[in-house]
Amino acid sequence: MLCKYFPLKFEQFLNAVCFSALFCEVTFMLFIVLGDITRSHADAIVNAANTSLLGGSGVDGAIHRAAGPELLAECRTLHGCETGQAKLTAAYRLPCRYVIHTAGPIWRGGGHGEASLLAACYRNSLALAAEHGCRSVDFPSISTGVYGYPVLQAAHVALKAIMDFLRDHPDMDVRIVCHGEDTLHAYQLAKRCNEKRVMAQAVEWGRRGARLNAIAPGIIVTPLALDEFNGPRGEFYQDMFARYPAGRPGTADEV
Ligand code: APR
Repeated sequence: MLCKYFPLKFEQFLNAVCFSALFCEVTFMLFIVLGDITRSHADAIVNAANTSLLGGSGVDGAIHRAAGPELLAECRTLHGCETGQAKLTAAYRLPCRYVIHTAGPIWRGGGHGEASLLAACYRNSLALAAEHGCRSVDFPSISTGVYGYPVLQAAHVALKAIMDFLRDHPDMDVRIVCHGEDTLHAYQLAKRCNEKRVMAQAVEWGRRGARLNAIAPGIIVTPLALDEFNGPRGEFYQDMFARYPAGRPGTADEV
């Protein structure tokens, strides 16, 4: 199949097959779906809360309404949560097992450490989920509602933080549950940009003779000539990006 794209020596053919097969694996580490996170059956869902952890509007309000009053009662025992930190509670009437509450940064123009605080929300929530044996974690788009974080910038920060975490925890399955088409498209775009960056890095490392380096979940670098990826014969890889699915096909209701 590959040879019809460009003539390959056997070893290159093997590497390309290995690479393309492994590359396809990375699709199933991180999904971007459209839906209502309160209907998620993941091991844990993340709540975009505020530092009081005493409920609010947006996804915070939706999660508290769906979970029932017991959630607020447990949150009261947590005595708040600093921005960027995360705390875990039971899920009560929600179909998931746990709720991880994190307080995202309020957007103040980008010069007040918002990006690192937002990355910390994802990193600390995933670390807490891993500590509790969670294999699947669903996130909303933290800070992009009431807190005003520009969604495309937030998406880049979120996906990088998640991919960095999944590199060391490839057995976890993470989803971004978007509540609107605009948010969905922003995360899909950010994911495609991230994949191209990772792929270009993989090919560059391969060009420098890197052997089997794991550079992203499911991607193992094999020696690939950069020109094969960027040159006229590289349409196979570029075609992969065109066909690279943005996430598990899901309906708006089924998450
Ligand atoms: N499922 C998934 N995502 C949802 C849902 C839902 N049921 N409801 C809202 N969202 C999305 C919003 O569309 C937005 O994209 O969650 C994202 C985050 O928006 P907010 O909930 O407003 O959260 P945030 O911007 O982090 O602001 C947090 O708002 O709700 C209050 O108490 C909360 O004070 C805190 C602040």
